Amino acid sequence: MSALLPTYQRHDIELVEGTGSFVTDTKGQRYLDFMMGIAVCNTGHRHPYVQHAVEEQLQKLWHTSNLFISSKQERVAELLTKGSHLSHVFFCNSGAEANEGAFKLIRKWTQKTEILTFSQSFHGRTFAMMAATGQDKIKAGFGEMVPDFKHLMFNDFKSLERITEQTAAVWLEVIQGEGGVILADNDWLQALMAQAKKYDVKIVIDEVQTGIGRTGSRYAFEQTPLQPDIITVAKGLASGFPVGAIITTPVAATVFTPGTHGSTFGGNPLAMTAAEATLELLLPDEQMQQVQQKGMYLMEQLSELKGTMIREVRGRGLMVGIECRQAVAPLIQALQQIGLLVVSAGPNVLRLLPSLFVTESELDLAIEKIKSVCQQEVMM
Ligand SMILES: Cc1ncc(COP(=O)(O)O)c(C=O)c1O
Repeated sequence: MSALLPTYQRHDIELVEGTGSFVTDTKGQRYLDFMMGIAVCNTGHRHPYVQHAVEEQLQKLWHTSNLFISSKQERVAELLTKGSHLSHVFFCNSGAEANEGAFKLIRKWTQKTEILTFSQSFHGRTFAMMAATGQDKIKAGFGEMVPDFKHLMFNDFKSLERITEQTAAVWLEVIQGEGGVILADNDWLQALMAQAKKYDVKIVIDEVQTGIGRTGSRYAFEQTPLQPDIITVAKGLASGFPVGAIITTPVAATVFTPGTHGSTFGGNPLAMTAAEATLELLLPDEQMQQVQQKGMYLMEQLSELKGTMIREVRGRGLMVGIECRQAVAPLIQALQQIGLLVVSAGPNVLRLLPSLFVTESELDLAIEKIKSVCQQEVMM
């Protein structure tokens, strides 16, 4: 019997080694990894540049308190904000923690309580973020939720009329990840931005899954008309080290003053070293263009399968969803058996989140495996 609380439905595979796009299990079976710890290892497994930087830091210092200055935090904050209207960063350890901090920031900043989020959204598992999340299954059994989170229909113009002077913030993912890889329409985002501006409502973008180059730009919002007041990032920021961040404008520095928020491990030197190396690798323009090109290639190739069990292929950069005409759980298992790891996004969407350094031949290998499973028509 396991001594772990059974909060996850785990696959019967234990992964023990990883290099680049591949991982190996305890039985020596090798897998092409197209889930990357669910959009975490954006540089692939153990990228030598990140590994070397962390090994050097391991020899020096593992942890200090945030009561001391940190040039590493300053450097990562600079990489996260350079060339943007966003200028100030708070470091923490996960996506939910970043969102929870953003929630506190919004409350204190606006002195209002109504926050509008969207159906099918996902923002994490803390108590406030459960309330923010637009999926009933996440909240089931936990009783009364933190008040004043209201859920609007995603991509629905009429819903935007709910944004008024009562509203503190509109809070969204520009591509809903866990909800099924659902892309916000840019015309709708333009209308959302206009309505928010009209009533001086803050915009919070949850970039926990879409950020750090995943969609072919540093942040997904950079390909939209949105000008957020706060964004949150985590997952891909440090190639597998736990880290999260709230990224915001100069005004927030007058709201989050000493003593208002904190996190013991936030901005830890090991995580910051991994984050610095990760950002140096991922953010150059040529790298972002490659992510866009590889994503287009992957989606074009997979679109040829429309008409089989595949209904639609959608995404941006290397965040790709394959909507199927059937539940995807048996497809995920069939793919595992032939050496490809992918993750679901809701009951009938397969989600592909490869390394942002994935090669063309690795893309072709994954496409071939997906084609072979889809053509077998695995049924539930
Ligand atoms: C958009 C989004 N927000 C927040 C979270 C929560 O992040 P974490 O699991 O690091 O708390 C996730 C995790 O999947 C996510 O996809």
